[in-house]
Amino acid sequence: MKYAVVTGTSKGLGASIAKLFMQASYHVIGLSRSENNELQAADFPGSYTHYAVDLADINATENTFRQIIANLEKEELESLLLVQNAALVSPIEQAGKQDMSQLTDHVHVNLLSPMAVTNVWLDAWRDTDIPLVIANVTSGAAHRSVYGWNAYCSTKAGLDRYTETVALEQEELGTGHKVILFDPSIMDTDMQGEIRSADESQFIDVERFRSYKQENALRDTDTVANVLVERLIQPESIENGAYYSVKDVL
Ligand SMILES: NC(=O)c1ccc[n+]([C@@H]2O[C@H](COP(=O)([O-])OP(=O)(O)OC[C@H]3O[C@@H](n4cnc5c(N)ncnc54)[C@H](OP(=O)(O)O)[C@@H]3O)[C@@H](O)[C@H]2O)c1
Repeated sequence: MKYAVVTGTSKGLGASIAKLFMQASYHVIGLSRSENNELQAADFPGSYTHYAVDLADINATENTFRQIIANLEKEELESLLLVQNAALVSPIEQAGKQDMSQLTDHVHVNLLSPMAVTNVWLDAWRDTDIPLVIANVTSGAAHRSVYGWNAYCSTKAGLDRYTETVALEQEELGTGHKVILFDPSIMDTDMQGEIRSADESQFIDVERFRSYKQENALRDTDTVANVLVERLIQPESIENGAYYSVKDVL
């Protein structure tokens, strides 16, 4: 059976990725704090199983993944994909004015959780015959500094370097596993709503992001998810360590 484990499936890009995998007959295991009733009730060739977890809680995240792995070990696996999509943009605030607990949650969800999950995942499937694919969702903010996004720019840059380094390790080890980055560019999601609601003192560029919405410049998540899912369901077309952007295709 074909499985895709996807984080952040309650809404936004993650919900679209899960839906498209289910339509392509994948069994999806989704993780987020809130459930996704639409996916749970959907009548697609693939199935949906939800695990409610706060990815800011690293112990809970690790335990949840160990549980998922124990269940998957009972299955006959034909394909096993992992998409680490969940992330936060907050705190949108200049350094010096940030709330420590928000900052800690941010780093945990965006960077430490994907690192911890990758560690557990590669350890668990060390002796597997199936080539694994891990796709980490990044952002253009990894490559440029944005006033008020110091946390987001840093965690996405960290995720990029982490992904490239793990890809290099897998290459050297000759595992055949592929670890890649996917940049979805700007999409019409709650994350963009949060960005638009920032104050100009917190985020100097806020007007530009408000105009993206007014001018319909934000892509819908199904369109973006389709670019990623189309690639992931053909793992032989994937280059280990590659940076794929939606802009390469759309
Ligand atoms: N939107 C954009 O324009 C844009 C641009 C570039 C890159 N991206 C990237 O694309 C990805 C998806 O973004 P999006 O716009 O779809 O975001 P979104 O609409 O805000 O959805 C975020 C998802 O992550 C989950 N999540 C957040 N905090 C979590 C936590 N503590 N524990 C578990 N799950 C958590 C949320 O679920 P719960 O709240 O239910 O937990 C939700 O399912 C992110 O990696 C983002 O950085 C987005």
